[in-house]
Amino acid sequence: MQVATCSAPTNIATIKYWGKDSEALNTPLNSSVSVTLHQDQLCAKTTIASKPSFTQTRLWLNGQEQPINKRVATVIREMKALAPDASWKHKHLHIVSENSFPTAAGLASSAAGYACLVATLAELFGIQDKFPGQLSTVARQGSGSACRSLDGGFVRWEKGVQHDGSDSRAIQIADEHHWPKLCAVVCVVNDKEKDTSSTNGMRDSKDTSVLLKYRAQHVVQDRLDKIEAAYKARDFPTFGKITMQDSNQFHATCLDTYPPIFYMNEVSRKIIHLIHQYNAQKGEITAAYTFDAGPNAVIFLEEQHVQEVVSMLLRAFPTTAAPMHMKSSLPVTHSTQLAADVADAIRWPAPTHDGVKMLYVSRVGDGVRVLAKKDALVDLVTGEPLRLAPAKSASASTPFSRTNAWLSVLAATAAVAALVAARR
Ligand code: DP6
Repeated sequence: MQVATCSAPTNIATIKYWGKDSEALNTPLNSSVSVTLHQDQLCAKTTIASKPSFTQTRLWLNGQEQPINKRVATVIREMKALAPDASWKHKHLHIVSENSFPTAAGLASSAAGYACLVATLAELFGIQDKFPGQLSTVARQGSGSACRSLDGGFVRWEKGVQHDGSDSRAIQIADEHHWPKLCAVVCVVNDKEKDTSSTNGMRDSKDTSVLLKYRAQHVVQDRLDKIEAAYKARDFPTFGKITMQDSNQFHATCLDTYPPIFYMNEVSRKIIHLIHQYNAQKGEITAAYTFDAGPNAVIFLEEQHVQEVVSMLLRAFPTTAAPMHMKSSLPVTHSTQLAADVADAIRWPAPTHDGVKMLYVSRVGDGVRVLAKKDALVDLVTGEPLRLAPAKSASASTPFSRTNAWLSVLAATAAVAALVAARR
């Protein structure tokens, strides 16, 4: 049996990808940049095995077998085409993938999931990049944001100009050691609503939002130049301001979409106000929020401010039962004590109990990793998954959130197809 195992990080865009130039190639309307988060908190892990006795290619996600959807099939086909040994074209695979964080968190794992699929196939097939970012052009076809998860540090996804999408690829701007003090506090916000998937949201925005067109043509390039320079210079105030402005503009394009899309909720807006008041008290931008296609906030800041911002969040969003779940690379406590000047400067909103469910405190991390045989998620003799989740009832069997395209697309293919058909 041949087997390979890899892990891949998630990434958070500070200049957002929103809108596709070509749906077929999954190329974007504009270039984007992101920070790769550390794999200690959030990552995907995938094992792929191949054995002559396998009769079909199968996929298990978080212990549940899933059908192979179009995007996964595309990634497998493209990777087989790059394999130096043509015999891979006819071999069947067992693909087993898991996330390191609870599915209930509703955190983006499409980026980590597809980056991990590409990295593991590359390892199994013995594929090397023939030009910088070649593998990222395949990851992009799984999920756009996935192309930025192959590398660590600060990564740019270049829109590209070629008609076949061959230069729409991700390039590392700075590695994970460049800005050691930079951290991200990921706030998992309680959310009962079912959000619009990124793919559908982007389609609607492209069809109806004039702001999206304006943004792609006149705003993004200048911001990319400035934020890359700020990242290289470790200039937090500039990096933070552009990050917040771009998140706000992305959500403005959602509001400009017709009918409008609302990803942020009351808790998200409270976090925005808290951060602006915090920055005003500090006299400069010290913390910066960004939101993707859901209400979860990611707050960038340098490590010396992490405890203060965590305390502020714990105070604004107290929990009713157990202390808030926190997973952190740095020593952080559940203290809600703040220096008097900070506490007094903030107009505290009425506390929203359980508004934030979990906090992950992450440093900037590295890209995909090749793991050892002992880390495999399959039995090394049979090639079957080591852990299977107990069968769930039909209604509860979709543990997949809107940002979790890697999983949700698989689980909800039929539902999405029905929705799209109904809209047409
Ligand atoms: C708001 O990469 O999930 O997170 O290419 O359709 O899979 P698809 O979309 P996806 O979109 C991510 C959008 C975003 C912004 C970003 O990560 O740049």
